[in-house]
Amino acid sequence: MTSLASLDRTWRNGHRVVAIDGPAASGKSSTAQWVAQDLGYRHVDSGALYRAVTAAALRWAGPPANWDPSTVLDCAQRVTLAPNEGTSFDVWIDGHEASEELRSPEVTSHVAVVAQMQVVRSWVNSRVREVATRFDVVVDGRDMGTAVFPDAELKIFLIADPWERARRRLLQRVQRRPTDAEIAAETELLVRRDAADATQTVQARDAILIDTSALTQEEQVGRIVALARASAAGE
Ligand code: CDP
Repeated sequence: MTSLASLDRTWRNGHRVVAIDGPAASGKSSTAQWVAQDLGYRHVDSGALYRAVTAAALRWAGPPANWDPSTVLDCAQRVTLAPNEGTSFDVWIDGHEASEELRSPEVTSHVAVVAQMQVVRSWVNSRVREVATRFDVVVDGRDMGTAVFPDAELKIFLIADPWERARRRLLQRVQRRPTDAEIAAETELLVRRDAADATQTVQARDAILIDTSALTQEEQVGRIVALARASAAGE
């Protein structure tokens, strides 16, 4: 029997999509990367595209206070997504690989404004959908299971409590055990980012909610891979 899911993916040339959404530092990108490796899919980080457009705007769109959507969209034309030798994509800005730049504090503090521009959202969504016509993908972001792939074969919404998210993000950044004061300061920043991103962070009705506060990386990856395999086997 032809299932609804396989009919839905004809526009993607039969390619599959696992969509992983959730708030900042919930572990989406690292989880998506591992899940893609285990499944033999490619990982697409939609947040990296928003960050790249922001980095380009910081260079070419003048002072952030004056950014207007059409100038920022012009900057987006300098951003490209190229499949790398591993199982993901590199983001290029104006012909240079830009991964390092994307995590700068300056980009992080301006990205929410850029991500609220509808023209930028449409541009990012088109890039991500285009990739899904060529590869099986694990995509991560805020609205992959709703705005971009309402027809994804599997949708996951990852959450974790803010303190734990802050602790993990710091661990990644400082490479040592963060102090409680550092975690408290980072938690405050994260809660502010959650508020700035609230409108675009949407849990799909058919998404599976996974709270990773007490899970190891291996456990959360294992659960999602098992769900993806079960969904593919059930078609
Ligand atoms: O990794 P982290 O959670 O810090 O953020 P990210 O995934 O790198 O995304 C950076 C920013 O892009 C977010 O804070 C959102 O403002 C925006 N974003 C979005 O609006 N929609 C997406 N699908 C992905 C990211």
